[in-house]
Amino acid sequence: MSDGRDVTTGWDAVWASRALPGAAGSVLQGLIDADGYDSAHGGVTERAWREYVARWGATLGLAAGGSVVDVGCGAGAFLLPLAEAGVRVGGIDRSSVQLGLASRAIPEGEFAVADALDLAPEPRVDVVVSMSTFIYFPTLDYAARVAEAMVSRATRAVAILDLADAARRAEDLRRRVRAAGGEAAYARRYAGLEHLYYDREWTVGLLEASGLSDVRCETQSLDGYGNAPFRFNCWGFVP
Ligand SMILES: C[S@@+](CC[C@H](N)C(=O)[O-])C[C@H]1O[C@@H](n2cnc3c(N)ncnc32)[C@H](O)[C@@H]1O
Repeated sequence: MSDGRDVTTGWDAVWASRALPGAAGSVLQGLIDADGYDSAHGGVTERAWREYVARWGATLGLAAGGSVVDVGCGAGAFLLPLAEAGVRVGGIDRSSVQLGLASRAIPEGEFAVADALDLAPEPRVDVVVSMSTFIYFPTLDYAARVAEAMVSRATRAVAILDLADAARRAEDLRRRVRAAGGEAAYARRYAGLEHLYYDREWTVGLLEASGLSDVRCETQSLDGYGNAPFRFNCWGFVP
């Protein structure tokens, strides 16, 4: 039976179709948009994004000379401000299109086209994050295996950011249907584009069982990001 690694979903086509916008705007704003934070539910400015990444850098103890890997790094929006701050950055993504954008924007980064399940245990890095990627995974079992691989790779901390909150699933779907213009339009637009929802207690239990301590969850907080109230972040530290 497949473990989900080789199953292509509608989302793969979405990520393959995202390109950098034209000349207008900064490199970082282009990456933010290519990573999907510009959708009907998004609209995140470069300023808000820099503030968000800096907050996570501080929470996870990332500073110049440190190292981070983003699992599902996309076009590299999360990594670019960290690279500019002197952090050694790397990422994996199953979309070669997205990864091409990241490696052009951050030539010194270490990138590989790979499924999240194939995250290598070496070389160890201080922090392993996954921002806004677990929502695209096929099953909770798959997500658990990726989380365990992330913990094995990290020497300091692991953060899974922007998980779809199971407690707010019904409300989330209602507002997505409204934004799409009704049930029929929603069904047409999002056929095959499901999100995976997570229970907060389950996620805390998973990170603790994987060996992290001081595990915490909080509601997503990112200015201009319409999904934020329906998402949460969960992180913990290597003892
Ligand atoms: C929202 S984008 C990532 C944004 C990026 N983490 C950031 O914040 O800058 C989601 C990415 O997850 C990748 N992805 C989804 N499922 C994946 C999987 N199973 N393995 C690896 N990458 C995956 C997609 O190709 C896409 O590039």
